[in-house]
Amino acid sequence: MKAHGRAGVHSPFLYHLCDNVFPQRFKHEEVNAIQKFRQKLLTDHSSIDITDLGAGSKRGKSNLRTVSEIIKNASKPHAWGTVLHALARERKPETIIELGTSLGISGLYLSTAIPGGKLITLEGCPNTAQKARQHVDAFGMNNVEIRTGNFDNTLPVLLKEIPFVEFAYIDGNHTEEATLRYFEWLKAKSDSRTLLIFDDIHWSPGMKNAWNQIIRDSKTTLTVDLFRLGLVFFDTRLSKQHFNILL
Ligand SMILES: C[S@@+](CC[C@H](N)C(=O)[O-])C[C@H]1O[C@@H](n2cnc3c(N)ncnc32)[C@H](O)[C@@H]1O
Repeated sequence: MKAHGRAGVHSPFLYHLCDNVFPQRFKHEEVNAIQKFRQKLLTDHSSIDITDLGAGSKRGKSNLRTVSEIIKNASKPHAWGTVLHALARERKPETIIELGTSLGISGLYLSTAIPGGKLITLEGCPNTAQKARQHVDAFGMNNVEIRTGNFDNTLPVLLKEIPFVEFAYIDGNHTEEATLRYFEWLKAKSDSRTLLIFDDIHWSPGMKNAWNQIIRDSKTTLTVDLFRLGLVFFDTRLSKQHFNILL
């Protein structure tokens, strides 16, 4: 009900995203190749023994799932993958951080957008990370580093290694408390050049609470609700405004 069309947007920066960046998102060759690759993985019925450290199974229980099931249920749908690709292509960060590699699908949308840059993607399940490595290599990407371990351990280590966070995509452990914890850590290394993208911002009441706190945070400026993805800017040249955009 509160969504803006392009005419309701009063930020030149957001005009640019709505007029130029998002409408082009299906036209890039790379995303079409990723879509074909995904179709191939949907026919892969081999099993992976999953260790889930995320929301809903914090005890790290193990279970078997097929590649095709994970691709169907957990990997970014193509339409949203193209949004990630378009944003990364537009921002041209040297480094992208991803929380939640899964089988590497969103990582392909991100890494193909920055051929001269590097994606560092974090995954808690070793077997899943191993499969993701195979997928990324089979697709021919050599700018992707996958680090295995709980975000609580891997993210602080990574943040110590880099001067600031340019572009981060948060797509794992969708609880209110964990999302706000990752936000605080990333925020401490953010500046005017930073873009954070949160996935599944309306997935649960807890995720909605986390998203609302991020919008209200005194350091965030422009925030954009794309209904599944939430974009968070810290650029002090942008006024503190919030928009809901229906793509
Ligand atoms: C929704 S999936 C990511 C999907 C992927 N971004 C894509 O679109 O292709 C979330 C992933 O985060 C991982 N994960 C969840 N909680 C974690 C934690 N606390 N530490 C490390 N990995 C975690 C899960 O193992 C799972 O593979």
